[in-house]
Amino acid sequence: MIFCKIGIYSVDISICRAAKSIYLCNDNNAIKHNMLVNFRTILSALTLTALLSCTELPAPELPESPQEDPSEKPGDNNGGSEEPGSEEPGSETPSGKTLVLFYSYTGNCKTLAAELAGYAEADVQEIEPAEEGLEYDANNYAIGSRLIAAIREKPNEASSYPAIKPVSRNAADYETIVIVTPLWWSNMAAIMQSYLFNEGSKMKGKKVGLIVSSASSGISSVVADAKRLVPDVQWMGEALWINNSNRSRSDELIKEWWNELNKKEETMTSEIKITVSGKSLPVKIEDNVATKALVAALREAPITYEAHDYGGFEKVGGIGRTLPSNDSQITTGPGDVVLYNSDQIVLFYGSNSWSYTRIGKIQYGTLEELKSFLQAGNGNISVSLSL
Ligand SMILES: Cc1cc2nc3c(=O)[nH]c(=O)nc-3n(C[C@H](O)[C@H](O)[C@H](O)COP(=O)(O)O)c2cc1C
Repeated sequence: MIFCKIGIYSVDISICRAAKSIYLCNDNNAIKHNMLVNFRTILSALTLTALLSCTELPAPELPESPQEDPSEKPGDNNGGSEEPGSEEPGSETPSGKTLVLFYSYTGNCKTLAAELAGYAEADVQEIEPAEEGLEYDANNYAIGSRLIAAIREKPNEASSYPAIKPVSRNAADYETIVIVTPLWWSNMAAIMQSYLFNEGSKMKGKKVGLIVSSASSGISSVVADAKRLVPDVQWMGEALWINNSNRSRSDELIKEWWNELNKKEETMTSEIKITVSGKSLPVKIEDNVATKALVAALREAPITYEAHDYGGFEKVGGIGRTLPSNDSQITTGPGDVVLYNSDQIVLFYGSNSWSYTRIGKIQYGTLEELKSFLQAGNGNISVSLSL
């Protein structure tokens, strides 16, 4: 049972790292050799690899009580910003508008990041753990497992995230950021989670893409981690999933994915649709951070929310998410659609002066038609926004 399916990828994901110096890196079978390998390490790597390949690890069980590892200092999370003697963090000047961020333990994501950087003409930033030499996959992936368990247990606490080295590039300097990360126990690898926990807010309003590499497990929880750690950004299409069955074509897949994302970008829509009680009207939209994020969200799915009358001049309701905003004091008029408090959309059938971010204007006929469409003064309505 244990040794079923030991094949190319088993060798890839486990031997090449656990033995640390042998790189039988999957499909191209490139061999970096160093024969000073501990036999016991290889044996345990093979066994663990076999477990991975046999079970596909869709929802791995983490140890109930992760063992303490004295070499780890959970509270010692420097967030990539205070390593003495290192280059000033985030000080390197950007050479382009795209940054590829990657973490890689066994080298797969490093390869993917390099492939993407070539097409995207991007700068590359590696994220590295502060503590060197840890074998995340040794002893049935004990360290990796414990790190993920700690984050799962308390995702909002800085002390749950392993410390990382300072980075020389600042995500805030770039328009577009692509995160390239391994999957660990169905989640995003802990080291990349640390970086995003500390620096994710610098990406607010930016275009962000995601590439996930796993042996075989599906990536939905990694996508959820990314959305939790990097809020208020414009996610660029679907995440790209590279695994051991398509890894040999990663170069081609990355190129297609990148081209597709950029094609969509070029055709940034100037209009969305608003539907109330089965009737739809177009909304001409502004070009700003809020509408970019809104359109990106609508590319994934329509947004439906409940709106109520307020003040005799508007229908307002929370849309169940936040959008990036650039509020300013404005006076609205009938048909105006604005973002209020980053998480509510207001549809005006009258006028008000307040601090809002403009979304656009409903293209309506007469004021009476607009009021009837929005059921002005008649209580709650279900509003659907779509492309
Ligand atoms: C701690 C740890 C946990 C892992 N858990 C899984 C898993 O649950 N499912 C899976 O398919 N692969 C798992 N893997 C394999 C990696 O996701 C995969 O080999 C990935 O390509 C590694 O990327 P890298 O070479 O850039 O580190 C795990 C690897 C490690 C080190």
